Amino acid sequence: MRLAVVGSGYVGLVAGACFADLGHEVILVDVDEQKLAALQGGQVPIHENFLPELLQRHRGKRLNFSDDLQAAVRASAAVFIAVGTPPTEQGEADLSYVESVARSISGAINGYKVIVEKSTVPVYTSDWVRKIILRNAAPPDSFDVASNPEFLREGTAVTDFLYPDRIVVGADSERCAAVLRQIYAPLTDGSYYRRADAIPRPDRAQVPPPLIVTSAKSAELIKHASNAFLAMKISFINAVASICEAVGANVQQVCQGIGTDSRIGPRFLSPGIGYGGSCFPKDLMAFRAVARESGYEFRLLDEVIRINEDQRQRFLRKVRNALWTLRGKRLGVLGLAFKGGTDDIRESPAVRLVQSLLQEGCQVAAYDPAAGERAREVLTSNVEFVGSAYEAARGADALLILTEWEEFAALDLGRLHRELKYPIVIDGRNLYHPDAMAAQGFTYYSVGRQPATPETQAADAATSPRNLKKS
Ligand SMILES: NC(=O)c1ccc[n+]([C@@H]2O[C@H](COP(=O)([O-])OP(=O)(O)OC[C@H]3O[C@@H](n4cnc5c(N)ncnc54)[C@H](O)[C@@H]3O)[C@@H](O)[C@H]2O)c1
Repeated sequence: MRLAVVGSGYVGLVAGACFADLGHEVILVDVDEQKLAALQGGQVPIHENFLPELLQRHRGKRLNFSDDLQAAVRASAAVFIAVGTPPTEQGEADLSYVESVARSISGAINGYKVIVEKSTVPVYTSDWVRKIILRNAAPPDSFDVASNPEFLREGTAVTDFLYPDRIVVGADSERCAAVLRQIYAPLTDGSYYRRADAIPRPDRAQVPPPLIVTSAKSAELIKHASNAFLAMKISFINAVASICEAVGANVQQVCQGIGTDSRIGPRFLSPGIGYGGSCFPKDLMAFRAVARESGYEFRLLDEVIRINEDQRQRFLRKVRNALWTLRGKRLGVLGLAFKGGTDDIRESPAVRLVQSLLQEGCQVAAYDPAAGERAREVLTSNVEFVGSAYEAARGADALLILTEWEEFAALDLGRLHRELKYPIVIDGRNLYHPDAMAAQGFTYYSVGRQPATPETQAADAATSPRNLKKS
């Protein structure tokens, strides 16, 4: 099919490249001339696994880039809107980009079109998009508006798109639902997965994925409710982690005990420094605003947000407890992206923490495998951007782990110990085992677990039942 995707950011670019891989002819539209030129010139503007391969495979063939939205609409059977929906000062979603796209679309409708909201939008947005298109003189039966929320996660965006848990199609007419079913048919009929050149299947993926058809309003709510639920899981376990710290329990053991309950599941039960990114913080605020507008005070969301903010403050206190005063201290920082596998630093708790540490007078040497360039634009004073974890540790009073990149979980601990001025590691992502770190000579702080030092480790070893028996 011929498709237009409007907005070539994390979602639009991945969706466009994946639609091309499914066999569709895609025009990706953006207003950012620089981004378009980079894409046309063969660059890959974001860090995502498999995206370079897909762009290489389809660029200039089934995937083209353009700034001409109206021409793209005229050439396409379906138009996916994937522009940003950032928060306003009041926490609502700013839908002005969506509205401006809807206005432009209306002038180019030349036959039945399905206009698909891919951006995360509040309930009723599909009604508004329809109204705007009608207001600009498109005939009522010449288009339908559908909601097809995107559940991809940055870092694994391509495989999430091609191997989704489910595809949600919010369509208020069968004609419109049929178009979306056809677009996703290579996934839902399993034919994509039988192809020799298909992007490899990730471990947990169940294929083929179900396609769930709902009303447009339900689909809009599904996206907000899903993100709110996932954020709630993170805040829940962070709250449990705080109790673990207070009573001497181990949150990893608690997570294992909770997560093996099939009704709960282990995912998103990772304590840390709180959620961030371009979605959870803004979507929770937008969902809360939508609920309020509809007459429901969703206080649970207030608490989820409060716990998340608090989590960063708790981590800062941990750094202070470990180092006493902060002014003039040199800190190695591992990770600036809001999570591992991406270069996105939007609402990154790691960046916010570094900003707080700078305000307290620390000097920071930071390393991130992908987000350094972007972080440079927002972190200026007293941050030295270095090229490896060991350089970040060199001469530092302590090392802070702020993003869960896989490479940070596999460091050469002996070398790290030698590089640090003091062997102190404060791990905001629980990448290491406290006893193992203490055994390597580190003083190790993490989230929801007791601090471990070489001394506590030696004392524990002496009093462990096995050693007592031996003696
Ligand atoms: N990033 C994610 O992980 C993710 C996941 C699921 C859903 N979403 C949602 O998808 C939407 C897009 O998010 P993103 O992270 O891709 O945003 P982004 O900021 O990375 O990309 C948005 C793109 O839209 C372009 N744009 C803005 N106005 C335009 C216009 N009038 N015409 C054409 N292009 C225009 C921008 O130049 C930019 O390239 C948001 O609603 C977001 O909440 C994001």
